[in-house]
Amino acid sequence: MSSPRVLLGVAGGIAAYKSAELLRRLTESGHSVRVLPTAAALEFVGAATFEALSGQPVHTGVFADVPSVQHVRLGHEAELVVVAPATADLLARATHGRADDLLTASLLTARCPVLFAPAMHTEMWEHPATVANVEVLRSRGVVVMDPASGRLTGKDTGPGRLPEPSEIADLARLLLERRDALPRDLEGKRVVVSAGGTREALDPVRYLGNRSSGRQGYALATVAAQRGAQVTLVAGHTADLHDPAAVDVVRVGSALELRDAMHAAAKGADAIVMAAAVADFRPVSLVGHKIKKGAGDPDPLVLTTNPDILVELVGARPAGQVVVGFAAETGDATGDALHHGRAKLARKGCDLLVVNAVGDGKAFEVPDNGGWLLGADGSEKELAIGSKALLASHVWDAVAGRL
Ligand code: CTP
Repeated sequence: MSSPRVLLGVAGGIAAYKSAELLRRLTESGHSVRVLPTAAALEFVGAATFEALSGQPVHTGVFADVPSVQHVRLGHEAELVVVAPATADLLARATHGRADDLLTASLLTARCPVLFAPAMHTEMWEHPATVANVEVLRSRGVVVMDPASGRLTGKDTGPGRLPEPSEIADLARLLLERRDALPRDLEGKRVVVSAGGTREALDPVRYLGNRSSGRQGYALATVAAQRGAQVTLVAGHTADLHDPAAVDVVRVGSALELRDAMHAAAKGADAIVMAAAVADFRPVSLVGHKIKKGAGDPDPLVLTTNPDILVELVGARPAGQVVVGFAAETGDATGDALHHGRAKLARKGCDLLVVNAVGDGKAFEVPDNGGWLLGADGSEKELAIGSKALLASHVWDAVAGRL
């Protein structure tokens, strides 16, 4: 397969320094990236950095390499355009179809998916002019990410931070996989996603845990937020993942804490996705001090069963709320993964169940995922192996269709 051709536009804001990391991620995952900085972006990061990391020349204007009519060729050849950071000025120029540099001219000739990752001060992001520009761009099918909240250039904090380069790279890959824009079909909806593994304490220093990285749940939260939903992410233990932009994150430890957080967040939610790997059992009692080795064998571990949170959520759901479960299955003597998935869907009573075939290095702690999406209405869709964001996007397609 040839490398997907990506144009990486970089506008002139302090977050331009993070575009170097995004560029590295894109090239390392096999994309051929041509960087199109604005003249202002080069005030923050030198052209040499972009040329060295991309292995391609860097120009800001249309008068370099005139015989190849760059702005037309680059736009035609691109399979994806990512602009990160997209400043208020860049959003305004793109909205009005300006073509005053190579980046904006290429945006006019490109016919592929376009992803903008904005970064600016909160006042600029919330200004009616920027709000209107974002609305126009989204109405044209451009994916304009909601920025992250947090510390900005000075002492101020608020929405306007560039989303993490890893999150932008994940969405970029998703758009290449989908070959289409992300619809804003979850606008006005409130969704709750659980992610990661629970930890069941034995004593103050030890716990029973599992191998869940939380990546699938984080991808679900990211994609829902960028489709316009208001998202609460209830996160157990995960790999070292950044909070997704524009998502409220609630941290929990044990299955019982996850249960409380899910019941609280589920009230009034339009959809719930249980992607967390919940421990089925917990120690009967928590020892208040560190268990010592002692002389003989340790006491046997006595476990009790945790509540099935998914079944409880299904039982408590108000009319119209869509509930989605996950099932990690291996086949056994009684049937294959799909057979076990169908039985689990009936047992749990949820509207949709994602069945992942696990084992042999599949699904856990890896970036890709696949399986089947089973509906309580009898529908069954095979999900080809792809990014966890792509699987998330299939889940939200199905949820949006049911809302
Ligand atoms: N789940 C839950 N509460 C539990 C266990 C699981 O809410 N105590 C949820 C998971 O988040 C997932 C779904 O139920 O959405 C299926 O989880 P899984 O571990 O595959 O199912 P189990 O019911 O534990 O069945 P088994 O381990 O016997 O396959």
